[in-house]
Formats: sequence, C-alpha cells, structure tokens
Amino acid sequence: MQRILGLFCVLICFFATINAQVDFYRPLVPIHCNSVQKCPEEWPCCSPYGECGSGPVCMGGCNPRFSYNETSCAPMPALVPPNNIEYSSAPLSALDGKEDAAQLESRGLLHFNKYLISDVQSDARYMLENIAFTYSGPTSIHPQTGDIVLSMPRGSSGCLLAATRYFLYGRSSVRMRTGRSRGVISSVVIMSAVGDEIDFEFLGSELYQVQSTYYYRGELIYNKMLEVPVSSDTNANYHDYEIDWNEHRIHWLVDGRIVRTLYKEDTWDEELGIYKYPQTPMRLEVALWPGGLASNHPGTIEWAGGLIDWDNSPDMIESGKFTAHIKSMTVVPYTNRYISAINRCMRREHNIAYDYIMPPDGIFDEASFAIYCGLIPNIRKWSDSGFSIPRNPIQAARWSGKVFMSGKAFTPVNTETDFVQNINDLASLPNGTMIYNKTQENTFSTEQKSSGASTMAQNNPLRKIKGLASTFWVS
Ligand SMILES: *[C@@H]1O[C@H](CO)[C@@H](O)[C@H](O)[C@H]1NC(C)=O
Ligand SMILES: *[C@@H]1O[C@H](CO)[C@@H](O)[C@H](O)[C@H]1NC(C)=O
Ligand SMILES: *[C@@H]1O[C@H](CO)[C@@H](O)[C@H](O)[C@H]1NC(C)=O
Repeated sequence: MQRILGLFCVLICFFATINAQVDFYRPLVPIHCNSVQKCPEEWPCCSPYGECGSGPVCMGGCNPRFSYNETSCAPMPALVPPNNIEYSSAPLSALDGKEDAAQLESRGLLHFNKYLISDVQSDARYMLENIAFTYSGPTSIHPQTGDIVLSMPRGSSGCLLAATRYFLYGRSSVRMRTGRSRGVISSVVIMSAVGDEIDFEFLGSELYQVQSTYYYRGELIYNKMLEVPVSSDTNANYHDYEIDWNEHRIHWLVDGRIVRTLYKEDTWDEELGIYKYPQTPMRLEVALWPGGLASNHPGTIEWAGGLIDWDNSPDMIESGKFTAHIKSMTVVPYTNRYISAINRCMRREHNIAYDYIMPPDGIFDEASFAIYCGLIPNIRKWSDSGFSIPRNPIQAARWSGKVFMSGKAFTPVNTETDFVQNINDLASLPNGTMIYNKTQENTFSTEQKSSGASTMAQNNPLRKIKGLASTFWVS
C-alpha cells in the first residue's frame, strides 16, 4: 500500500511539474520583453506581464511594441456601436451539476488559452460572436446568486477576467463585492495592449475607499493616484464602479456619482509635444490578485497593505480562499474617428477588428490603427502567432468608399470601390475615403486631412497624411 501510494504521488507530482513548467505557449525559462528587448521569433508575442510566448499570448493583451514584429500580435476583436457587452447574473438552474467550465461557457466566458484558437472556422466564428470574456485562475458561477466568483486559494495568483473585445472610448460598469483582508487586491480596470490604463484598485485592508488612477503607455508614474471614499464596506456590499472615457476626458464613478475627472488637455507633455492621455483601444479587466505575496516587489507589498495572512484571514478560515463577486458588467462603446468606416462595415459585417500599426514617430495614439471588416482573427494552434492570420488589403478595400493606389493593378471586390490614379485627385475625395498605396503597401483615410490639405499636394503627400489621418493600414 505504501509503495502504491508512493508511486501515485510520484506520477501526480511529475505531471503537475510538467504542466506547471511546459504549457506549450510559454518557454520553460521565461524570456522577458521590454522597451529595449523584443521577443525572439520562436516566442514572438509579449504578454502584459513582459514575458514572451506564442498562441494565447498573441491573442489578448499582446503588446505590439515589444513583440517580435508588427504581425506577431493578432488583430483585436473590436467592440463598436451599436453593440455592447453585457453580463448580468442569474441563478444557475438548468446547469446545476455541470462543471464550472461548462457553466462559464454557457454565459459567454472561456479560458483564455482556448479563445480563438481553432482550425475550424465555424468554431472560431462561434467564439468571436459568443464569448464576451476570457478568464484565468479559479473562476466559477455562484449557484444561488449567479455572480461570477473570482477565487484566490492559498498561494495562488488569483483570477483575471478580461473582455474579448476592445473599444476606443466608451463606458464600462461593474457591480461587485471586492475581496477583503490585508494584501488582497481587487481591480476594475480598462487596459490597452500598449499599456494605457484607467483603474479602480481596492485594497482588502481598506474597505471604505478605492484608489483611482491611470497610466499612459505603461509609464510607471504613481503620483496620479487619488483615493475616493465608498459609502459602505466594499466587501460586504455591492457597489457600482464605472469608467467613462471619451476623447476629451475620463470620469470615474462610484454608485452613479462622478468621483473624479481627468481632462485630456491637462495631460500635455511640453517636452514631447504629446498628450499623455489614454487613447488606444481598451478592454475591461476585473481581477483578484495577491499584492501581498512574499515574492512580490517590496514596494508592491507595502502598497497592498502588507503580506497576505494565508492562515488567519477570515475568508481562509471560512472557505479556504479569498473571493470577489461580480454581479454585472456592461461595456458601451462610444463613437470615434473610425466611425464612418465602422458604419460602412456594419452594414454587412459585424466582425470588426482593430490592429496596431507603427506610426513613423513610434508613438501610438488614437490614429495608429487599421480596421478590418469581416476578419475572424483566429489561429490554429498554440505554436502559431498573429502572423498566420491573413491581413489582406482586399479586406480593407471591402469597406472603403474609394481606393487610391499608385498606378498598379488592384482587383476591386465590390462596386463601391473606385480607383484614383492621380495624386491630385486626393484633394477632391470626401472625408473617410480610404487610400491604398500599393508601392508603400499602406492605406490611409482622408478623414482628417483638413489641416494637411495644403501640404498634401507637396512632396511625398501620403507620408504627411499618415501623421494626421485616421490611418487604415494593411500589410
Ligand atoms: C514577421 O515575422 C514573421 C515570422 O514570425 C516573418 O515571416 C515575417 O516576414 C515578418 N514580417 C516582417 C514585416 O518583418
Ligand atoms: C506610394 O509610396 C511610394 C513609396 O513610399 C512613394 O514613393 C510614392 O510616392 C507613393 N505614391 C504616391 C502616388 O504618392
Ligand atoms: C473633413 O473633416 C474636417 C474636420 O475633420 C472638416 O473641417 C472638413 O470640412 C471636412 N471636409 C469635408 C469635405 O467634409
């Protein structure tokens, strides 16, 4: 008996070790990515935590600045008006007894390492159209309340819930009860792949307030944080937390009341001549995580209120885990500079994706995006990256009113597509016209060309537009 038990343990421990170390989309020894070091070709995608990987790492939160090249990250499914994301809890009934994963999937939640990874096109389409959130960590549906429960058992790294669709301006609302006790952090944030972030962070040791903050391009400047009071214990009571973000300002709201406002004009950086204002597509993320983990940076532990007490905290004694409970979530996207192209696409297609393109100055802003109409940005397997997703100029041309190109053959795919062969004709095109430069393999919109109109006809006009225009690009 002793021996069998022993063998059993060896096998279990062996597989547990294998599983922990080799998950096939991350290297055995972590490879780090940052502003001075991009990911290598074998592990091309840079995660939000600065680690290289492939497959799922290329799908959500993949940072295009630090990834191997421009095509490593997959295009991001877009949330555009009039669509929104809504999760609202209802008690489980029909699903009683089913596994957590099945219950979660029936409510539009899927583990992040499965999302949009399939070589069956209909499965990929199903995921794109039915999965609103991905999760990692021990996530479940509460059988009585129907809340999404994020759990953090002893020694774990908690849970992350992330919306699958990105929006460029919009309002996100979360009704929840936060985790409690020292070192336990709950967050409601909207975050972009390049590190723009607007946050609510809850310390489990301070249950009558919340920290509001924001980041620009991942710059770790901590003096933007502002503490905001909440009317009652955030662990014992549900409250509404909302982030209302448009191109001019951000409102943080608690229970429907604006508790903080940030104006874009107040974020001007004199030296760089740019607004350090979040202006890249965001996704909603709700997390429960161990800020007070012994292995964390001392500054993080201190901020989190100290080390987590895994033995004596009330939740550990009662249920062996810390939890946060999400009652409902809503994301309503606002209009943005791409709206005319989006509307044209929406007449026949609901699957729209945003894709980062590298601007000449290397500084991403709200104009640094391609829009694909009708693209299902799936990959076949964990070893693939966004490179295997066909980003075809034709797809861009499908929604464009007109196409400009520099004299080379280009097959039209619908009757709305015209060609302009002469650069001088550019000035006569209506706003929102897409321009495709075959030589440069670039596409541009004339949407914002007003200020550039006079300079446009001068030498290398297309490059000039690039800085100003809503830029639609296919590579
Ligand atoms: C990007 O990387 C892929 C391999 O991952 C390569 O085949 C492709 O040519 C690269 N593209 C550019 C523009 O460098
Ligand atoms: C298209 O791009 C090429 C390469 O940058 C450039 O030389 C050319 O002028 C552009 N075409 C037009 C019509 O401007
Ligand atoms: C194009 O848009 C700009 C502002 O974005 C505006 O000033 C201009 O009048 C518009 N042109 C046309 C033809 O609509």
